[in-house]
Amino acid sequence: MSTPKRAADTPFPTNVEAGKTYYWCSCGESSKQPFCDGSHQGSDFSPIKYEADKDKKVFFCGCKISTNSPLCDGSHNQ
Ligand code: FES
Repeated sequence: MSTPKRAADTPFPTNVEAGKTYYWCSCGESSKQPFCDGSHQGSDFSPIKYEADKDKKVFFCGCKISTNSPLCDGSHNQ
């Protein structure tokens, strides 16, 4: 399996809205981090869908190696 590009050294705090769907970039190549912009085309990667159950702030993974993706699990500290 390919290794994703480390897009950021810290997560992306994001205010999500109830009922909205978000597509998190798993490859790290998107210029619209933390979201997919289609740059993964031609690679092994595809975006991961995230559906917000309520209005809240979440931390989307920026290092792309979280085991709880699309959310941060602290792996960026490694
Ligand atoms: S651009 Fe990274 S998954 Fe789409």
